[in-house]
Amino acid sequence: MTKETRRRKSDHIRISLNQNVQARRVTTGFEDVCFIHRALPEINKQQIDPSTTVFNHTFATPLIVGAITGGTMEATKINATIAEAVEELGLGMGVGSQRAAIEDKQLEKTFTVARKKAPTAFIIANIGGVQLVNGYGSKEVKKAIEMIDADAIAVHLNPLQEAVQPEGQTNFRGVLEKIGEIAGELDKPVIVKETGAGISAEEAKKLEAVGVEGIDVSGAGGTSWAAVEYYRAKKSGNSFQRRLGDVFWDWGIPTAVSIVEVSQTVRIPVIASGGIRDGVDVAKALALGSSLTSLSQPVLRAAVRGIKETKSVLSLLMEELRNVMFLVGAGSVQTLRGVPLVITGKTAGWLRIRGFNIEKYAQRGGN
Ligand SMILES: Cc1cc2nc3c(=O)[nH]c(=O)nc-3n(C[C@H](O)[C@H](O)[C@H](O)COP(=O)(O)O)c2cc1C
Repeated sequence: MTKETRRRKSDHIRISLNQNVQARRVTTGFEDVCFIHRALPEINKQQIDPSTTVFNHTFATPLIVGAITGGTMEATKINATIAEAVEELGLGMGVGSQRAAIEDKQLEKTFTVARKKAPTAFIIANIGGVQLVNGYGSKEVKKAIEMIDADAIAVHLNPLQEAVQPEGQTNFRGVLEKIGEIAGELDKPVIVKETGAGISAEEAKKLEAVGVEGIDVSGAGGTSWAAVEYYRAKKSGNSFQRRLGDVFWDWGIPTAVSIVEVSQTVRIPVIASGGIRDGVDVAKALALGSSLTSLSQPVLRAAVRGIKETKSVLSLLMEELRNVMFLVGAGSVQTLRGVPLVITGKTAGWLRIRGFNIEKYAQRGGN
């Protein structure tokens, strides 16, 4: 990896920590999704079981820390902290793009620390879809998996980021075919994830058809990569790129919309991410049809402060989810995924125009 790329990785972390890179005008749409409160929940909160089994792995709570980092020295500590926290809490984690370590063995330890600190947690390897277009094949992907003894690999799609950054690699021709080739050659599940702009029903269908085994929607409403690039351009005095970052800051399919688009279209597990910020968002994402949920930026903020802060952020989310389950009378994740929901506002409008049945969420029986 060039010094330039390493600096870029550090910039991403620094900007995500010090600037407001959250969506400005677009929202996740979770504010349009309402549970029906139950004054007679008829369950004992102490007996609620938030565990779930997905990809043949049992998670204490359907929560994963999304891909963030690796490849720079500060990443070692961040990955170690996140790994320690998820191991203790029974959650999962994704590491950041492993391209750097595939190309420079010295950087492997910034990733391997994750497996060292989380010997039993579900860990997801990570590689860019654009790297597959540029020549990576099953050899490199297997290397990424073996490096951290991963349980699955995520291929990330970031056309928005590539389109607004000066060094962007914008040739995505053939990316789907490449993903299909990889999925056919590996014995670990291939998950395709976006990075904050969402996945539509049409794309989900194509991904499932080529053998992808999970889709992480990573929709709009949380961290914006156009915003990260806006701040990089501002620092370097590049007014052209800065304008691009500004105009595309809120680009993408809102997370709640993307969850419905994808989960009503495919049968493979859906991971919900992009702006998940509390346990109520987690519960809404599950009730809309996802099997797991994931968040990145708030955990990065906690991880640089330490293990106690990281565990605290994640434990709060877990407790908030448990509270929602109590208030809607859901003793298990499976029951939560079938409770009635009312979808209103912009999210309902979008989904109706796109032909999705949103009445079915309101008509569900619950228990
Ligand atoms: C500093 C930073 C670095 C990231 N690096 C990667 C990456 O290497 N690979 C990837 O798939 N996603 C990466 N992401 C995207 C996240 O996994 C996630 O999709 C996105 O941040 C939306 O989730 P959030 O709103 O909870 O932050 C990164 C996010 C942040 C904040």
